[in-house]
Amino acid sequence: MATKVIIGAQWGDEGKAKIIDILSEEAEVVIRSQGGNNAGHTVAVNNDVYKFHLIPSGVLYPGTDCIVANGVVIDPQGILEEMDGLAKRGISFERLKISKRAHVVMPYHKVLDGIKEEARGLNDIGTTKKGIGPCYMDKAERSGIRICDLYNEEVFANKVRENVIIKNKIIKYVYEQDIQFDPEEIIAEYKEYAKRLKPYVDDTTVLAYEAIKSGKKVLFEGAQGTLLDLDLGTYPYVTSSHPITGGVCVGSGIGPTMIDECIGVMKGYVTRVGKGPFPTELFDEVGEQIRDIGHEFGTTTGRARRCGWFDAVIGKFAVRTSGLTSIALNKIDVLANIDTLKICVAYKKDEEIIHEFPASLEELALCEPVYEELEGWGPIDHIKDYEDLPEAAKTYVKRVEELCGAKVSMVGVGPNRDQNIYVK
Ligand code: GDP
Ligand code: IMO
Ligand code: MG
Repeated sequence: MATKVIIGAQWGDEGKAKIIDILSEEAEVVIRSQGGNNAGHTVAVNNDVYKFHLIPSGVLYPGTDCIVANGVVIDPQGILEEMDGLAKRGISFERLKISKRAHVVMPYHKVLDGIKEEARGLNDIGTTKKGIGPCYMDKAERSGIRICDLYNEEVFANKVRENVIIKNKIIKYVYEQDIQFDPEEIIAEYKEYAKRLKPYVDDTTVLAYEAIKSGKKVLFEGAQGTLLDLDLGTYPYVTSSHPITGGVCVGSGIGPTMIDECIGVMKGYVTRVGKGPFPTELFDEVGEQIRDIGHEFGTTTGRARRCGWFDAVIGKFAVRTSGLTSIALNKIDVLANIDTLKICVAYKKDEEIIHEFPASLEELALCEPVYEELEGWGPIDHIKDYEDLPEAAKTYVKRVEELCGAKVSMVGVGPNRDQNIYVK
């Protein structure tokens, strides 16, 4: 199996966790390398549904090592609550490791996330308000607090005090809000979190390197998706990290030569939660049908996800920018019983045909999707073998492959572990 990176190839929620869960059966290590608890990863095991935010989905397999690497931003309260919830369901964390270098989400990050969104008014991004953006801002500004700082009382206290002075001023004078933080309260609160997290803290760059070097099967669990990438996504309607495969190296401290395969997860259609452009968005009853049948409501915030036709311009962009070696095409069961399906093969701007995803949102706003129509199919959620899929579904999969430029290696026909078909 070697080292595989699994990323979202659209706007997130492509069913990455389901693919990780399926591949985890063979994996020995699962690593999260970016994002934070803005992620919502669902794994369905028969009638049990598990929702993960910071904990790698591989934790469901007791023999798998799970690593939260340096590129992840960790809300200690969030991760501990998640662990407590999972522990009640019999999950053990003996094999969990958290990076000393990861940045810590502080209470002021969460408050600032909300305040900044409010101040943006109609131009809000629609963030998850988990403090992700403000935490990555401090990291880039070099005023952030890292997990290792939690274990040096003096350093930690000084950093909190320095940060709180500035954040309180920003909240009061820039955003004219009443909320003010008491640094001593935060120090005391985080001291308790630090105590509980201590057994898990380690230098995860060493663990990742040694696991790969010793030939272990390692999976990198992506969070968010290609078009939410800070550099390559629909900026500014993006997250503050790098969900593309390139983010894995920086986010976990390994070199690109250590990666063997890059799998991009797509849905048979497209969804987006939060604001920002979405060329193939559907506003009709087909869009509603996809949302209902696909249960397209956010795992983290419960918000309804916007739904639209499959967009091969985006698919091709993801293959190119992440060097995808294959595609896992999820949720094609959701498209059952739609007579005529559409795939966007290009965009049209005035009379010009555009084949590459535009950088400028103003240009993207002028783009009309150019659709190709394909025949639909009936229910397929019971099918186990690729050969048994209706011809129309196979044609759809083939077309996705041709248009995106990478082979489809897996097809999802339902949320469960056994509802995944390998394409031979
Ligand atoms: P992630 O963030 O990429 O891991 O995806 P989410 O967990 O946020 O959203 C994907 C949703 O689709 C979850 O509820 C999954 O259980 C579900 N799901 C995944 N694959 C399939 C599939 O092939 N068919 C159907 N019907 N549901 C799926
Ligand atoms: P998973 O890993 C879908 C979106 C938010 C918002 C934008 C910025 O489950 O696929 P942030 O809180 O990150 O600053 O919000 O990014 N977003 C996601 N959308 N899936 C996710 O994660 C997301 N994580 C962030 O909705 O539009
Ligand atoms: Mg999700």
